[in-house]
Amino acid sequence: MKNIVLTGFMGTGKTAVGRELARLLDMKLIDVDTEIENSRDMTINEIFREFGEPGFREIETDMIRKVSRNKEVIISTGGGAVLKQENMETLRETGIIVCLMASPETILQRTSITKDRPLLHIDNPLEKIKELLDFRKPYYEKADIVIDTEGKTPLQIAEEIAEKVKGW
Ligand code: S3P
Repeated sequence: MKNIVLTGFMGTGKTAVGRELARLLDMKLIDVDTEIENSRDMTINEIFREFGEPGFREIETDMIRKVSRNKEVIISTGGGAVLKQENMETLRETGIIVCLMASPETILQRTSITKDRPLLHIDNPLEKIKELLDFRKPYYEKADIVIDTEGKTPLQIAEEIAEKVKGW
């Protein structure tokens, strides 16, 4: 069994789905952002403030390289991880790439609950979400499995993924 890598925009449910999938398949869940926060003892917000987005992306690439050395785990990535080809190549060496999709409105609803997304700390987050989604869509579509999450619970999505990765 290869690793299962969850990708997708902020608020598409990677963390919640990752937890359900880990439980269903009895696999360990590694969240790249959490690993970054623990390794630096800083929040993602603080890392963005101190090193800017380019600095965060370098730290992210190093962490992706590190966590990809694991075997038979679920790796949940940050929404921008797909933008670097190097990250995708690293993740694909040991894993099946799954991408979760959702509409801008659903993403806004899900991300406005918390304040931990520095890229959305702006006046019109919906416009920003649409703009980023447009730009990133071709990158997300490079995944091996693309899942529409609209109107589904994390458990339903996890079951769908478990079925699709079977016999991969
Ligand atoms: C980002 C998504 C975030 C986090 C950082 C940047 C992005 O992760 O890595 O704020 O560029 O889309 P989540 O997708 O888990 O929110």
